[in-house]
Amino acid sequence: MPEKMMATRRDAAVLCDPLPAFFRQVRTLSAALVASLSDADATVQAMDDASPAKWHLAHTTWFFETFVLRDHVPGYALYDERWPFLFNSYYEAEGERHARARRGMLTRPALDEVLEWRAHVDAAVEAALPGLSAEARALVTLGCHHEQQHQELLQTDILALFALNPLAPAIWAEPRTPPAPAPAPIRWIEGMRGIVEIGENGADGFAFDCEGPRHPVLLHPHAIADRPVTNSEWIAFIDDGGYRRPDHWLSDGWTWVKANAVEAPLYWRRAADGGWNAFALDGLHAVRPAAPVTHISYYEAEAFARWAGARLPTEAEWESAARCFDPEGGNLLDRAGPARPCASPAGEGVGQMFGDVWEWTGSAYLPYPGFRPAAGAVGEYNGKFMSGQFVLRGGSCATPRGHVRASYRNFFYPHQRWQFAGVRLAKDL
Ligand code: AVJ
Ligand code: FE
Repeated sequence: MPEKMMATRRDAAVLCDPLPAFFRQVRTLSAALVASLSDADATVQAMDDASPAKWHLAHTTWFFETFVLRDHVPGYALYDERWPFLFNSYYEAEGERHARARRGMLTRPALDEVLEWRAHVDAAVEAALPGLSAEARALVTLGCHHEQQHQELLQTDILALFALNPLAPAIWAEPRTPPAPAPAPIRWIEGMRGIVEIGENGADGFAFDCEGPRHPVLLHPHAIADRPVTNSEWIAFIDDGGYRRPDHWLSDGWTWVKANAVEAPLYWRRAADGGWNAFALDGLHAVRPAAPVTHISYYEAEAFARWAGARLPTEAEWESAARCFDPEGGNLLDRAGPARPCASPAGEGVGQMFGDVWEWTGSAYLPYPGFRPAAGAVGEYNGKFMSGQFVLRGGSCATPRGHVRASYRNFFYPHQRWQFAGVRLAKDL
């Protein structure tokens, strides 16, 4: 055989490697998501919990530059040695950093400069990829999944920002489909019982460290709803005095309702006719009765469940039921262009468990038995946040397609509600 035709093992591995395409696809989607934003839109910070779009673009780039290029590519020189201070989010092992609540004060570097940095880092990562060690490749993979998390945060943070503008500007126009008829009443699906295994170690593709170790849990007799709670059901809760009656609420939840004068999900506004409008990325529109309720806190989800004579599912109940469904069937953010952020959940996930809205579970975000965070700075990624937060499952309309899976554990504090978070009921049998 002529020498030219003899492909070595290594050539084959490089030819079939999915990582360069994954990296490129993720990096391209972030840029597409900000394509219609001005420098000002991308710079301002709506609240302490939210970050400017420009900061998300820069922080995800910092992640690759630091943990891949700096640490694994000999001779790589930082693009700007002052920028890691600005774009390190929370990694104590990487030293001091700019205060989270002041990210919106960074008018420089400008959006264009951040985009140029992104192009520089993209080229360096792509050039380095064929020669990277397995350890460095794992960091590129982590960096891609990390950036997908920030793609969702970018959308919810832009929504939080535009919601503060009295003009209620729409960033992404969306054709308004006629409101769907109310879905059938909730059907209760009997869950698995006895000892089942949950969690993932990353053996079948990527998983974050907090999703494992896979381990057995005991499920008591229970049933789980076939769909999330809808807006029309939420309106019934409001009309029944749900936000005015302390008996539905956890003590912390009631304190939160009072302190913040909460009377509806975040972004809901009373309409002139006495009904409800909701602000979304496509502007201010009448609440769609059949769509899943979104932008609710854990406290609200828990109070609703109590009012409805039900409870929140545990994360083990949720995961064991979700194994029956393909995440690809859910209403998720599509990776194909032109990328437009999710305006609001559409109720297209009816009949399965992925997409549309993250679903609050009643489970505290805690380490699974035997959990050990990774060594080094990336060990700070998930494990150090296992205090005072609750697990959400299933992904939302803002979650990039391909990102979520049955074992995926999202987590937020019980008062937070600027994510696309809703609720699916469960009950004991
Ligand atoms: C899993 C969404 C709670 O917002 O801090 C981003 C995702 N982790 N960068 C967060 C994340 C590191 C994380 N959440
Ligand atoms: Fe991050």
